[in-house]
Amino acid sequence: MEVVIAPAEELARLAAGAVEGLLRAKPDAVLGLATGSSPLAVYDELARRHKEGLSFARARAFMLDEYVGLPADHPERYRNVIEKEIASRVDFPPDAVQGPDGLAADLPAACAAYEEAIAGAGGVDLQILGIGTDGHIAFNEPGSSLASRTRIKTLTRQTREDNARFFGGSVEDVPRHCLTQGLATIMEARHLVLLATGRAKAEAVHQLVEGPVSAMWPATIMQLHPHATVLVDDAAASRL
Ligand code: GLP
Repeated sequence: MEVVIAPAEELARLAAGAVEGLLRAKPDAVLGLATGSSPLAVYDELARRHKEGLSFARARAFMLDEYVGLPADHPERYRNVIEKEIASRVDFPPDAVQGPDGLAADLPAACAAYEEAIAGAGGVDLQILGIGTDGHIAFNEPGSSLASRTRIKTLTRQTREDNARFFGGSVEDVPRHCLTQGLATIMEARHLVLLATGRAKAEAVHQLVEGPVSAMWPATIMQLHPHATVLVDDAAASRL
């Protein structure tokens, strides 16, 4: 695992640079997109590079996770967040960005279909990740099986509190369930690029880099990945 400690703007440039390098070498690459605030500067940088000629016209992308039950037009539905933050700002072909269907009548079937779609695309080449304060990646909360695949999960109180800021500050408005790629699904991506900034992430980053591999800190599974890059600022690295 490669750990880079640098100012936040530099981290965004490094992550965007990894995406650009991939797309230049493999224009039909499959990207893995994350929500949350951590990747936003990366998406800004990618949108800027797109204006300078970086093309996503042959690329595809898969999202990590989705809330269950948010209406199709809800601004915090992750499909809509990804559309706004990155998909609409570059030239992905229509329908090139997919996410788990949190409105499906049959959620387990939707999860299985999502796994098949990722495999059918040849797997994810580069997966962008954030990390929760409790060490979750995507929505794999503490206690998630290290061998998990895309499935329904119940969000922890901690995560719902962390994400309440996106729902007008009200924890009660944050959905209780989500669909998320599993840890084994994420581990199949060929390159993992995780971003973490701020002191609130320091304990999770400490566990990720220096803790024992454990389902109680799900991100620690990344220690077993052959190509994982962890991009952190000074504050997030303060417990290393
Ligand atoms: C949510 C997302 C995760 C993300 C995490 C951290 O729970 N499902 O993918 O990593 O938030 O979010 P932030 O980057 O806003 O701290």
